[in-house]
Amino acid sequence: MLEVREAVGGYGDLRILHGVDLALAPGSWSTIIGANGAGKSTLLKLVAGIVQCRGGTVRYGGEDVTTVGPVDRLLRGIGMVPQGRCNFPLLSVEENLKLGAYTQKLGREELRVELERITQRFPRLRERWGAMAGNLSGGEQQLLEMAMVLMTRPRLLLLDEPSLGLSPASMALVFDVIRGLVADGITVLMVEQNARQALEVCDLGIVLELGRVSLVESAREVLSHPEIRRMFLGL
Ligand SMILES: Nc1ncnc2c1ncn2[C@@H]1O[C@H](COP(=O)(O)OP(=O)(O)O)[C@@H](O)[C@H]1O
Ligand SMILES: [Mg+2]
Repeated sequence: MLEVREAVGGYGDLRILHGVDLALAPGSWSTIIGANGAGKSTLLKLVAGIVQCRGGTVRYGGEDVTTVGPVDRLLRGIGMVPQGRCNFPLLSVEENLKLGAYTQKLGREELRVELERITQRFPRLRERWGAMAGNLSGGEQQLLEMAMVLMTRPRLLLLDEPSLGLSPASMALVFDVIRGLVADGITVLMVEQNARQALEVCDLGIVLELGRVSLVESAREVLSHPEIRRMFLGL
């Protein structure tokens, strides 16, 4: 589904990723953990095409997309929810979702069908349909942002710290929604500071250290790794 090889990237002349290797199977759910500043967000942005890959390759769905731009990657099915709030706070839930579908250039009827599909997955958003996004709770905003990206029907969903700042109950709700997406065949790659909670629910754990992948194991293995437990899990 996704194969990153020897990827190098960063910001201007500043190199953050120094040769990242990563492979995701279709329908898998993986979590990247690592210290602050390790390059986790940069790696997601490199997969989405927002950060240029200046060395190595990115292959998606069997095609080389290394030089494909972010909008084209979105149209090919790579969707990303960035870190932090990224909705339009003064617009309603409905308006935000319509903007989420903007790149798809849907007709009126297609848009209605998509909105219906989304509200079935996110009943909570239907209840808040006319509310301004900025007035939603943190958990509801995270759901809205995932729903906005889902309007583009991604096959690979990149989530940067989806549980950031959420209460335990909201975090559980967000992870439940992600589990449902994975069950429907969407491949998920997320970054999480709440490493333990994330590794308890996902399949694959990826440790990023100083711009390189230092460990890739089943989430269960990563959870039981003594050094990882000490460094990242506070155990
Ligand atoms: N837009 C940017 N321009 C310059 N440097 C950046 C930018 N975004 C992040 N960085 C730097 O890149 C490094 C990795 O950042 P990031 O990928 O956000 O780390 P993480 O998500 O693992 O905390 C940090 O040193 C950060 O300061
Ligand atoms: Mg980050």
